[in-house]
Amino acid sequence: MSDFNKGVAVITGGGSGLGKALAHAAAKRGMKVVLADVNAKALEQTLNELRAQGAEAIGEVLDVTDAAAVEALAKRSEAHFGPANLVFNNAGVASAGLIWESTDQDWDWLLAVNVKGVANGIRAFTPQMLAAASADTAFQGCIVNTASLAGVLTGPAMGLYSVSKHAVMALSECLYHDLSLVTRQVKAAVLSPSYVATNIGQCHRVRPQQWANSEGPTRSQMATASMAQNNLDNGSLTAEQVAEITFAAVEDGRFYIFPTDEMHGLLKHRFECMLDNANPDLPYADYPVLHSRRQRLMEALVD
Ligand SMILES: NC(=O)c1ccc[n+]([C@@H]2O[C@H](COP(=O)([O-])OP(=O)(O)OC[C@H]3O[C@@H](n4cnc5c(N)ncnc54)[C@H](O)[C@@H]3O)[C@@H](O)[C@H]2O)c1
Repeated sequence: MSDFNKGVAVITGGGSGLGKALAHAAAKRGMKVVLADVNAKALEQTLNELRAQGAEAIGEVLDVTDAAAVEALAKRSEAHFGPANLVFNNAGVASAGLIWESTDQDWDWLLAVNVKGVANGIRAFTPQMLAAASADTAFQGCIVNTASLAGVLTGPAMGLYSVSKHAVMALSECLYHDLSLVTRQVKAAVLSPSYVATNIGQCHRVRPQQWANSEGPTRSQMATASMAQNNLDNGSLTAEQVAEITFAAVEDGRFYIFPTDEMHGLLKHRFECMLDNANPDLPYADYPVLHSRRQRLMEALVD
């Protein structure tokens, strides 16, 4: 995929952070933009910014966990602009802390948004992209799912988020394989950023009442949330840089999009442990950030 001019980009979670940056990157390339977000105010602000720059953009306030609403978005988007060329299943939320302290509601919320939200986008948009590819040999499309480095790495007190993002990685690889059975014109890709300064640390603001916790956060959850915020604020790339890297990768037809290679050593080490029949291990001596995170967690857990 090399020429997105006049194409259509659909972005969930487009009101903030990476989604917003992807929307601006799409508009910069002359694409028509369709945004979806559960946060009406953030969505409207991003739409206003895009239109002020001359982009053609429409938006829908929706929750990606609502399959019917995502289906309706796909229909509206196609009716308005034509079939989607790029679909970014990007909306996501986070949670941290000791794995046994994640509540039933935490599991339902994280898996509904991070996993089923992506599956809903795939189910709603793939048929229109395949139909467009059958009708026009020049049509090119790509479905880009936002996973995370937590989709390929595990560590202390990041269990639930890591589980959800591993699912997105598996889902994306399966999508890639399945698409390759039926077309060469519609591809898949998976974006796996490290920490980026966005509003994900405030994602509890869009947590629906049905999945609200009845009790406040535990010690481990408070400690990890504050460390994660610090990591986010000090991320090595901006959301705009990640968006540009993502578009360049999609243009190159690359599936795995790792905007930074700072954690590649950890990834290699993880697979070496598996292949060597060793137990899970993190090379703390080589990664002072991980070492101090572990130390701070252990201190936070002491009575
Ligand atoms: N920021 C990071 O460091 C980082 C790193 C790796 C992966 N990610 C992933 O990037 C994606 C985007 O997150 P971000 O960091 O830009 O966060 P963000 O909070 O700034 O943006 C996420 C957007 O998704 C929206 N959203 C949340 N739940 C939704 C739902 N149910 N339906 C529709 N919209 C919903 C939010 O309102 C928000 O506008 C997420 O999938 C996240 O897991 C982020």
